[in-house]
Amino acid sequence: MSSPITACASSSDQEQNKVGASKNKKKGTFLRQGPSSFFIHWTMALRAVNVMWNVAVVVLALWVFCGSVRASVSYDAKAIKINGQRRILISGSIHYPRSTPEMWPDLIQKAKEGGLDVIQTYVFWNGHEPSPGKYNFEGNYDLVKFVKLAQQAGLFVHLRVGPYVCAEWNFGGFPVWLKYVRGINFRTDNGPFKYHMQKFTTKIVNMMKAERLFESQGGPIILSQIENEYEPMEYETGASGRAYIKWAAKMAVGLGTGVPWVMCKQDDAPDPIINTCNGFYCDYFSPNKAYKPKMWTEAWTGWYTEFGGPVPNRPVEDLAFSVARFIQKGGAFINYYMYHGGTNFGRTAGGPFITTSYDYDAPLDEYGLLRQPKWGHLKDLHRAIKLCEPALVSGNPTVTKLGNYEEAHVFRSKSGSCAAFLTNYHSNAFAKVSWGNMHYNLPPWSISVLPDCKNTVYNTARVGAQSARMKMTPVPIHGGFSWQAYNEEPAGYEDNSFTMAGLLEQINTTRDVSDYLWYITDVNINSKEGFLRSGKYPTLTVQSAGHALHVFVNGQPSGTAYGSLEFPKLSFNQGVKLRAGANRIALLSIAVGLPNVGPHFERWNAGVLGPVTLYGLDEGKRDLSWQKWSYKIGLKGEALRLHSLTGSSSVEWAEGSLVARKQPLTWYKTTFSAPAGSAPLALDMNSMGKGQIWINGQSIGRYWPAYKAAGACGGCNYAGTYGEKKCLSNCGEASQRWYHVPRSWLNPTGNLLVIFEEWGGNPNGISLVRRDIDSVCAIIYEWQPTLMNYQMQASGKVNKPLRPKAHLSCSLGQKISSIKFASFGTPEGICGSFREGSCHAFHSYDVFQKTCVGQNSCTVPVTPEIFGGDPCPSVMKKLSVEAICS
Ligand code: GAL
Repeated sequence: MSSPITACASSSDQEQNKVGASKNKKKGTFLRQGPSSFFIHWTMALRAVNVMWNVAVVVLALWVFCGSVRASVSYDAKAIKINGQRRILISGSIHYPRSTPEMWPDLIQKAKEGGLDVIQTYVFWNGHEPSPGKYNFEGNYDLVKFVKLAQQAGLFVHLRVGPYVCAEWNFGGFPVWLKYVRGINFRTDNGPFKYHMQKFTTKIVNMMKAERLFESQGGPIILSQIENEYEPMEYETGASGRAYIKWAAKMAVGLGTGVPWVMCKQDDAPDPIINTCNGFYCDYFSPNKAYKPKMWTEAWTGWYTEFGGPVPNRPVEDLAFSVARFIQKGGAFINYYMYHGGTNFGRTAGGPFITTSYDYDAPLDEYGLLRQPKWGHLKDLHRAIKLCEPALVSGNPTVTKLGNYEEAHVFRSKSGSCAAFLTNYHSNAFAKVSWGNMHYNLPPWSISVLPDCKNTVYNTARVGAQSARMKMTPVPIHGGFSWQAYNEEPAGYEDNSFTMAGLLEQINTTRDVSDYLWYITDVNINSKEGFLRSGKYPTLTVQSAGHALHVFVNGQPSGTAYGSLEFPKLSFNQGVKLRAGANRIALLSIAVGLPNVGPHFERWNAGVLGPVTLYGLDEGKRDLSWQKWSYKIGLKGEALRLHSLTGSSSVEWAEGSLVARKQPLTWYKTTFSAPAGSAPLALDMNSMGKGQIWINGQSIGRYWPAYKAAGACGGCNYAGTYGEKKCLSNCGEASQRWYHVPRSWLNPTGNLLVIFEEWGGNPNGISLVRRDIDSVCAIIYEWQPTLMNYQMQASGKVNKPLRPKAHLSCSLGQKISSIKFASFGTPEGICGSFREGSCHAFHSYDVFQKTCVGQNSCTVPVTPEIFGGDPCPSVMKKLSVEAICS
C-alpha cells in the first residue's frame, strides 16, 4: 500500500491554512459542506462488502487524509487537521460521572482557561446500561449534556467509547450482567462479546449523531477511541486477539462518524486508526505508519490512590518537562489523564481497593478547585506551545547536540516562523549553553521554549504560577451532628437467605448488587471438648479470594482481615470463642470494587472460597468447607433502604448511649442544614473504620480511613525520571480521610446523612468541612523569563528585558490577611516552610505587607530596589513569599 499522504497532503497546502482561524468560521465552513454523501456511501459499502475490506480501508484512509477538501477532521504525519489546518491540540480528561452536572460548566471553563482545546472522556457502559437494554443517561451520566457543555465553551471533545475503559472504574466499565451472557468471552474474537460491544458502541455513536455532535456534523467531537490498551491482552489472546482488534477497528470505522478513531497502546492498530501512546513520558513513541501523527492520549498527571496506599503526586516541573519533550520530538496531541480526576461516587471505584477519591493529583483537584502551581504552570506551557504552533506544524525539527546532556530542537516554517526547544536532560546539573549567538541557562531536567528562536518565554523548571496550600475547615453545624444509631445483627437464617453445601464465589452470587455477602454455618461442639476446660480456643482459618472479611461467632465480632490491590486474597487466622453445643459462624465477606485491568479480570474471584477450617479440636482439624452454608446477599439495612428518606424511618433508631458504643455493623443517621457559601464540602471521616456514606439517598461512596497508607514517603525531587512510586504523601495516615459532598446534593435544610459502619467507629468525630485556600506562595527568580514580558517586547512596548512579577491571589471571597514569609535573596525551603538564606533583603516583607494585605490579589515586581536594594550583588537571587488567605 503506498502512503496516502504523498497523494493528498503537501506542505504548501499546509502553509496556506493560516493558524488561528476562528471556530465559528470553521463551523460555517463545515456546515456548508455538510456530512459528505461520499462518506455515507463508503460507510455503507464497508458494511455490505466484507471481502472488500482492505480496499475500503485504503479508500477510506485516502478520504480521511484528503480531508481538507471533504471532511472537517483528518490527519497527516504532522498533526490532526481541522478543516485542513494542522493543529497542536492540548486535551484533558474529565470523566463526567466523576463529578456532578452542576460542576461541569465550571470544570470545563477552568480547563479552557488552563489552555485546553479538547476535553477527553471515556464512556462508562455500566453506568449507562445497568441491566440489559435498560439505559441511563440521566444526572451525572448525561453524556449528551456534557459534550454539549464542552461545545458551548468552544472546546473539542475526544470521545473514548471503549467500551472497555480500565480507568480504575468498577469492572473496567463493563456491566456485570455481561459476564453472564451465555458463551461470552470478554475482549476477544467471541461472538456474544462482539455482539454486545457493537450494540453499545453503535448506540453511543448513533446518539451522538442524532444530536449532531461529531465534528463532521458541526459538533465538537473530533476524535473517538475504540478499545483501550489492548496490546497487553493480545499477548495473552494471540491469533484470536489479533482477529478481534481487526474486527473492532472495522466495526468502529464502519460506524461512519466522519472523524478519526484512535487505539491507545496498540502498535498494530489497523489503518486508518491512529495508534497512540499512554504513559508518564511518550517522546520515544512513533505511530505505526509514517502518515499518522504522534499522539499522546494519556499523559499521566499523577496517579490513583488505593486504600492502604499513600497518595502519589507528580511534580509539575516534570510533567511540563515530559510534555515539552514530546512536543520537541514532533508530538501534536497531548491529553492530560486526568485533568480533573474527581470522585468515584457510589460503588463505581474499581481496583479492587481503589479509593473513593480519584483526585489523581490533577490540575483541577477532586473538588474542582485549581491545583496550584500545577494548573498555572501548565497554562503557561500551553501558551508558550501555542506561540510555537506555526513552526511546529510545518515540518520536522532539526536536532543539534549542545553538550553531553543538552540539545536544541528547532522547527522552521517556509513562511519564516522559527521555534526552538533547548533541553537539559541532566537530572542534577545546571547547564549553560550557547546557541545562535546567545547564552542560555538551563536548570537540571528542564526545557526552555523559544517561540522566536531567540527569547525564552518558559522554562519547565521555573514555575511562575503561584502555589496554593489548601485547608479543610470544620463548618459549624448548629448543635453539632446529632447521631442516631441502628445496630444490624449478623445475619441468620432468614427468609431471603438460601442454603447449599459448600462455598460459593461471591460475584457470581451477588452479581455485584451489594458489596456484602454473608456466609453462615453452624458448628457443633461436643461438651467433652478439651478446649472447653483448658480455655485454649480453637483457631478458625478462612481462606478468601478477597477483598475484606469480618468474622462473627455467636453474634460476637471475632476479627477482621483484608487484602490489598496487589494481593486481594486474604487469610483469616484467629482463635474463636466456641461453646458447647450449637455455634453460629457468620462471615461477612466484602467486595471493595471489582477489578478493572489484567488478563481476563472478569474471571477473578472474590469471596470465601475456602478452605474454612477449625484447628485445635480433640479430633484435630475440622474442615467446614463442604458442610451446609447459608447465604444472604447484602445487608438488612440495604434491603430496608435505610439510606433513603423513606426507608430510614422503617426501623427504630437509638440515641445517646448506643451511639457511643462504637459497635460494628451499625447504621448512623443525622440531619443537617447546608452551610452558607460556595466552597466545596467534604466529610472528615477520620474517626471511623470502614463503610459507606449516603446524603439524601445518594451514595458518596465507600470510606475506609482505618486502612492506613503503608509506604515510604520521602522528599520529592522533580528532576529525574518519574514513576508512580517516586513522590508519595500520607504515609502512616488514612489513605483517604475526606469524602467529597457535592453542594448540589444538598437542600438548604433537613439533609439526611446516613452512614453504615462495618468495624465500629466514633461518629461523634465526624465533621463537615469546607475546602479553602490556606495560603498562597510564589517563588520567582530574578530575570525569570515570562510570557508577558516576551509579549511586551514583541509588541514593541518595551525594548529591554523586564523583571518578572510575583502574583498572589486568594479564592473569590477571601482576602490576604497577613504575610507569613517574604525574602528576596537566597531563601530556602518550600511553600509552607520557607526560611531565610544567607542573603536577605531587609525590606522584603514590607512591600508585600503594604501592597497585598487586605486585598484579594496583588502583584509585586521582583526587582531589588523594591526590597530596599540588592542584598548580595553577583549572586543569583530569588523571591519566596507566602501570604495567608482568610
Ligand atoms: C491506563 C488506562 C487508564 C487508567 C490508567 C491508570 O493504562 O488506559 O484507563 O487505568 O492506566 O490510571
